Amino acid sequence: MALLPILRFPDPRLHTVAKPVPTVDARMQALIADMLETMYEAKGIGLAATQIDVHERLIVIDVSEERDQALVLINPQVVWTSAETHLNEEGCLSVPGIYDGVERFDAVTVSALDEKGNSRVVQAEDLLAVCIQHEMDHLMGKVFVEYLSPLKRNRIKKKMLKAQREEAQ
Ligand code: NI
Repeated sequence: MALLPILRFPDPRLHTVAKPVPTVDARMQALIADMLETMYEAKGIGLAATQIDVHERLIVIDVSEERDQALVLINPQVVWTSAETHLNEEGCLSVPGIYDGVERFDAVTVSALDEKGNSRVVQAEDLLAVCIQHEMDHLMGKVFVEYLSPLKRNRIKKKMLKAQREEAQ
């Protein structure tokens, strides 16, 4: 297993649209293991393959307190959304230190393959539903700050670039 570098906003590669995973094979299982390790190490609750510069439809999630409820979704598709939406405060491993409100469906149902390649349907609500919507956006090349006003987004972009310059020194 290996820790993978996480792309940071405004890296243009975060705007790549991911392709479907063709087969859940050994390569995919190694990638899943590395993504889980990377997510836990970074203390995140979700990570999309896009964020580690792999542009295939794969996300890993764990919203449990104990960090022992890994959820792997391959080629996820939303099959149902609730009528109700809510403004939730979100953060992202690709935009460290930034938290802001995004409107999301309260509940979603997704169909996907699991880490063994078996079909599964996940009914999610609350934090898990928000996390799934956030990670599925990544697969479409969308980062949560794109929901914010252009003014806020520009401010965040400048802050991120400054932080990255400082780290590079
Ligand atoms: Ni994110």
